Amino acid sequence: MSLIPKEIVDQVIAQADITEVVGDFVSLKKKGQNMWACCPFHHEKSPSFSVSPAKGIYKCFGCGKAGNSVQFIMDIEGTSFPEAIKYLAKKYQIEVPEEQHDPEYAKEQSERDSLFIVSDFAAKHYVQRLHGHEQGSIGQSYLKQRGLSAATVKKFELGYSLDEWTDLTDTALKAGYKQQYLEATGLTIAREDGKKYDRFRGRVMFPIHNVSGRVVGFGARTLKSNDKKSPKYLNSPESEIYHKSNVLYGLFQAKQAMRMQDMCYMVEGYLDVLSLHQGGIENVVSSSGTSLTEGQIKLISRYTQNITVLYDGDAAGIKASLRGIDLILEQGLNVNVVTFPGGEDPDSYIQKVGDTAFKAYLQEHAQDFISFKTSLYAEEAAGNPVKKAEAIKEIVASISKIPDAIKRTVFFRSCSLIFDIDEQVLISEYNKLHLQGRQQQHKTGSPELDYAPPAPEEEPEKPASDADVLQRYEREIVRMLLNYPDRLLEDGLTTCQYMLEQLEDIEFRSPLYKRFVDVVSDKLNQGAVPVAEDFINYPDEQIRTEAIHLLSDPYELSPNWATHQIFVPHETDLLPYGTERAVLRLKFVYLKLMIDEETQKLKLVTDPQEQVNRLVAVMNLKKLHKQIGDMLGIVVF
Ligand code: UTP
Ligand code: MN
Repeated sequence: MSLIPKEIVDQVIAQADITEVVGDFVSLKKKGQNMWACCPFHHEKSPSFSVSPAKGIYKCFGCGKAGNSVQFIMDIEGTSFPEAIKYLAKKYQIEVPEEQHDPEYAKEQSERDSLFIVSDFAAKHYVQRLHGHEQGSIGQSYLKQRGLSAATVKKFELGYSLDEWTDLTDTALKAGYKQQYLEATGLTIAREDGKKYDRFRGRVMFPIHNVSGRVVGFGARTLKSNDKKSPKYLNSPESEIYHKSNVLYGLFQAKQAMRMQDMCYMVEGYLDVLSLHQGGIENVVSSSGTSLTEGQIKLISRYTQNITVLYDGDAAGIKASLRGIDLILEQGLNVNVVTFPGGEDPDSYIQKVGDTAFKAYLQEHAQDFISFKTSLYAEEAAGNPVKKAEAIKEIVASISKIPDAIKRTVFFRSCSLIFDIDEQVLISEYNKLHLQGRQQQHKTGSPELDYAPPAPEEEPEKPASDADVLQRYEREIVRMLLNYPDRLLEDGLTTCQYMLEQLEDIEFRSPLYKRFVDVVSDKLNQGAVPVAEDFINYPDEQIRTEAIHLLSDPYELSPNWATHQIFVPHETDLLPYGTERAVLRLKFVYLKLMIDEETQKLKLVTDPQEQVNRLVAVMNLKKLHKQIGDMLGIVVF
């Protein structure tokens, strides 16, 4: 287990609120007792990811991922248990003693943890250089000249890398960070001759955070305006923690505002993000110069379904990037577009006109994407029938990406008005495209289908073996133990007491369920009552995960049942009956297995006396088996 003191771990687990923890990563909506969202772990269009505030757990009924707050952070961040605890401790302002340099502790860390830790160190180092080193003043005056306030610089943890070859590498190595991780994050570059040097030198540093606020990489701007040799911006290379296609600059600082305003502004550059944020438009992110990817769109769609793309540049440049927008449409998001007057980018424009005028400009100039694209092409195609035909194809291609049929219809109408052509022409063009698309999808077997996929061929059902059935009943017993441990049954015993007493002579065959029963039995022997939390927070992951599956009930009763006054008995209403049946069923199968096994062994026995003894034993088992069968209403031959 972790070297973080147990009381701290317990405190973190007790204090972590599952809806708050998960809510930092997805927008949860309340439905019934639980909260629901589209699953952050797999791609889906309707929510099957649920969070139970009462039980403190999450579970996705689509992909099966489940756990408590700590598991959620481990899953979404891909970190180890201690790192997840540290993340939550930070969120809830619980102090964790620093043990970073303890070798035992280091062993527990995953490679990912190490990359996060060294990136965090580098970010802090660059901040220190900006504010606490004489060379930092160069960076500071640049940022000031770009109109950035101290608050913005602090909020985005901007820094400065000294114009020296090994400042970061030397400092990091001296502080005990490993060369290996400095290289893996791309902060240090190793030459063929073994010489090491810093990747970023003499640049303003923009740390890039992941959704949970961890530094995963850097963008770095040169301050030399006329240096043609080195690029204006240098970026960290891809690493195990930095996948460019899954990161958006500014998302960590924007996500709350994105959810509140139900809108995300997309810009091109780092400085566009910073200037808008400073101007009070906090729901802004940048894909940092690359074209938007599906992964980035999915990230956005966790918080809002509305994107407004702020374009700088001319019509040609815009056209080149329009394809990226089709990708957003395909994901079912709504896209608006704003363009800026010649030569301005969002950063320069807000600096020029001020916050208020800028916001008004956004309001007045936001145009839905399809109309924007249509006008863009219509202008060009005016009086040129060939161009017009091409333009129509282009636009219909975009419209056909929109999954929602009603939205498509609206766009066909507005497009037909702008081009002054019959709506029907567009629709038949769409049908042609759609048909092609279908045939292609059929060939490649793409899962993104617009029509119902053929039902998968049912696998011929194999009769379950007795061992399988036994495992199912063992699971059922454990499920009841976990869900209703201290419910009183008829004779004054609790579920736990009753079941364990009944199953005293039975050794569970499944190692996993046996462990559950052992834990329950230990607790009872100590005079304590086992509770669900014992298992949800159990140190062993297998136990934790299974406990969560056993505790989450997919069948939430529709509130209609209650209002229609239809009585649906809950399992708890029938618990004495249910527990008794569960015990009997388990015994029934268990005996069947024992009879088979003993009969097999009998064949190998040669000693006549021994044969008789064993035969009698088998007969007794059979008698018992039949008795239990009678109680269950099963005819045993
Ligand atoms: P721009 O060249 O438009 O930069 O590149 P900008 O944001 O307006 O920068 P300033 O205002 O001159 O400082 C837009 C984005 O493209 C990426 C960066 O993410 C940048 O913010 N880029 C640009 C690079 O990655 N490398 C480059 O050499 C240039
Ligand atoms: Mn700019």
